[in-house]
Amino acid sequence: MIVIRSAARMAAVARRLEREGKRIGFVPTMGALHEGHCSLIRAAAARHDMVIVSVFVNPLQFGPREDFARYPRPFGRDRRLARAAGADLLFAPPARELYPPGFQTAVEVGPLARRWEGSARPGHFRGVATVVAVLFELTRPTTVYVGQKDYQQALIVGQLIRDLRLPIRLRVQPTVREPGGLAMSSRNAYLSAAERRQALALFHALRAARARIRAGERRPGRIAALMRGLIRAKAGVRLEYAAAVDARTLEPPRRLRGRVALLGAVRVGRTRLIDNLLVGVP
Ligand code: PAF
Repeated sequence: MIVIRSAARMAAVARRLEREGKRIGFVPTMGALHEGHCSLIRAAAARHDMVIVSVFVNPLQFGPREDFARYPRPFGRDRRLARAAGADLLFAPPARELYPPGFQTAVEVGPLARRWEGSARPGHFRGVATVVAVLFELTRPTTVYVGQKDYQQALIVGQLIRDLRLPIRLRVQPTVREPGGLAMSSRNAYLSAAERRQALALFHALRAARARIRAGERRPGRIAALMRGLIRAKAGVRLEYAAAVDARTLEPPRRLRGRVALLGAVRVGRTRLIDNLLVGVP
């Protein structure tokens, strides 16, 4: 596996691969790789000639009071895990390579980016959309792999690809969970053993909501109230939002039908966690 730090070299290699007709699978990450990322890399390796993984903690997607400075950056471990999972090329640029002096463009996705994570983290999705647009241009992927854990982000990346007519296919892979059900996230590294147990309240609330929908409940307000109640009842867990929404638009419908996304965000201690489940409503 080769490691590239320069944007110009990354672009040159990707263009050569493109000329050679190679199919490129791309997995964008912020590093601190875990089994969720590895499953994306393995999925890309199974279907592509070449797998590029980017490791870049993107300053543009963190708010001023968020965890940019303390975000874990275990680069040696990331390199080993990426290689073992089947990556051929690791693109790990310093910030000045992606955002050289004078950089001043931002990519902004509309209504899909406004609610939920968008309103809890103003500017976050502008940062995500901007960095993925730059990364797509440099890596020229055939297919990009993202996790369902960041469901709103996955929809936004899909929208950006469609709106900019990029010749890229998006594959959203299932959330990988720890044995108790906690969704894998690089931020789980911040949690103490007690906080890990508390954090499960979010997954348990999503699961209870899914069961209630399967039992026939179709009122989104009732489902949201169920999740909120379960999360609020758990000591040490602070609810940010919990909602049952249309899985395509992320808007709460009048009645649940079709594909429904159950979304939730909580704080456990200083750590902010998100999770979701998708439910098909006949
Ligand atoms: O999901 C992430 O790790 C990041 O938001 C991404 C897509 C790599 C952009 O920085």
